[in-house]
Amino acid sequence: MGLYASNNMLCTQCEAEGFRRITFHPDRPDVLSRYKVRMAGDKTLFPILLSNGNCIAAGEEGNNHWALWEDPWPKPSYLFALVAGDLVVNRDEFVTLSGRKVELGIWVREGDVERTGHAMKALKDSMAWDERVYGREYDLDLFNIVAVSDFNMGAMENKGLNIFNTRYILADPDTATDLDYDGVEGVVAHEYFHNWSGNRVTCRDWFQLSLKEGFTVFRDQNFSADMGSPPVKRIEDVRLLRAAQFPEDAGPLAHPIRPDSYQEISNFYTATVYNKGAEIIRMMATLLGPERFRKGTDLYFDRHDGEAATCEDFVRAMEEGGGIDLTQFRRWYEQAGTPRLKLSLGEADGEWFLDVAQTVPPTPGQPDKRPAMMPLRLAAFAMDGSAQLPDTLAVLSGATQRISLGRFAARPALSVNRGFSAPVIIDFERAPGELAWLAAHDDDPFARYEALQQLMLDTLVAAVSGEKADAGAVIDAIGRTIAAARPIRPSSPKPYCCRARLSSATRC
Ligand code: PHE
Ligand code: ZN
Repeated sequence: MGLYASNNMLCTQCEAEGFRRITFHPDRPDVLSRYKVRMAGDKTLFPILLSNGNCIAAGEEGNNHWALWEDPWPKPSYLFALVAGDLVVNRDEFVTLSGRKVELGIWVREGDVERTGHAMKALKDSMAWDERVYGREYDLDLFNIVAVSDFNMGAMENKGLNIFNTRYILADPDTATDLDYDGVEGVVAHEYFHNWSGNRVTCRDWFQLSLKEGFTVFRDQNFSADMGSPPVKRIEDVRLLRAAQFPEDAGPLAHPIRPDSYQEISNFYTATVYNKGAEIIRMMATLLGPERFRKGTDLYFDRHDGEAATCEDFVRAMEEGGGIDLTQFRRWYEQAGTPRLKLSLGEADGEWFLDVAQTVPPTPGQPDKRPAMMPLRLAAFAMDGSAQLPDTLAVLSGATQRISLGRFAARPALSVNRGFSAPVIIDFERAPGELAWLAAHDDDPFARYEALQQLMLDTLVAAVSGEKADAGAVIDAIGRTIAAARPIRPSSPKPYCCRARLSSATRC
């Protein structure tokens, strides 16, 4: 943190508490100031001088040169940045919604500039997406990105001067995988989106970190979904949550997305604050639906523009914009631990119902938990096609709750937590044949993926335990999935999955 040297370049990293290592300052995110920065130095060693905002003057004095930068937007000190070094640039431009021209620059070491094309495209796509989906326009004449090879974190959203680890900027078809390309696209978007969710509206204190990080992860996830395949992106995000966040929530370091205390804020950039935080925003978006959610975010951005806000401010904007009571939902901000839902199906006179029992396990410092409010998307299918309950949004809030499913002649196949509508663990005993049916027929791609995963796992476990394993059901489900598959982007000239330089004969 602070001002450091990296490969003959001078560079800063101020989030969370690095500015105090550069100069005396009340280094807290709720102290917003306008910065005017004069940089001066040897023009051979440091030919490029960059800081936040717009460059308003520059000049030379012998072998030295100088640049004067002005950032008109009040910002907290953690968003301060400067870079001095020998860099080359990929320049482009973007015209905003209201017709303002923004100059874009991606600054890298000589020789790397050929590998910045994908990042530049991702930046322009992000700018257009934030205008279209959230009505958020960029607010300076310049937007610069610098790629540095020694950078501990992925990237940093300094106002008008994002600083990246090269891994999230540079990509070329000879060495980068599809995953690398998607990583660049997602991180460029994430840092750009912080301009509104983080910079224009910042955090009152570091306990509110998930206010900017959870929301911005949610925004970048949806951006990547729109750029590619929404179900594939959802599956990837849930796999990451289960691999990185569920263990955190079940271990000695479990903490709520808004922690009550910390010793070192740098250790709080966790999967819980980021990824569970994104799930909690997603649940509010699901509860509200797209139009009311947009009303809520408009209200949030308008009301708190230029302020240092809290998670509570966000939830209140969702309540007012969406016309919904989120009193009980707020427990997600207070309680750690992954909730568990125990499900059982029952029937009375041909009317079927689902009983849901919610528990939240004890975590360090939080022995007793209360049930939280959550959206549970579900559907039910008669496996012979005679009846179905189409996609339904149930709102859970009690420790136990009964949801009626309607009339079925026999036990229906239940498609539950569709789209992974709530970040929970589900405990549900399936009847024979249900998983196979869902794996082959479920109309929610995420739920269908889950069913097929479980079906394959059960089949493999049966096979290795010497039981009779029915691979036929797996083969049938995969066959139906392939038969129903459509090209993900039929209008695109390139196949979605291969952005590398492959001949048409080797397309996957
Ligand atoms: N705020 C950065 C992000 O989420 C992450 C970061 C935190 C980078 C702290 C550096 C130091 O994009
Ligand atoms: Zn972030």
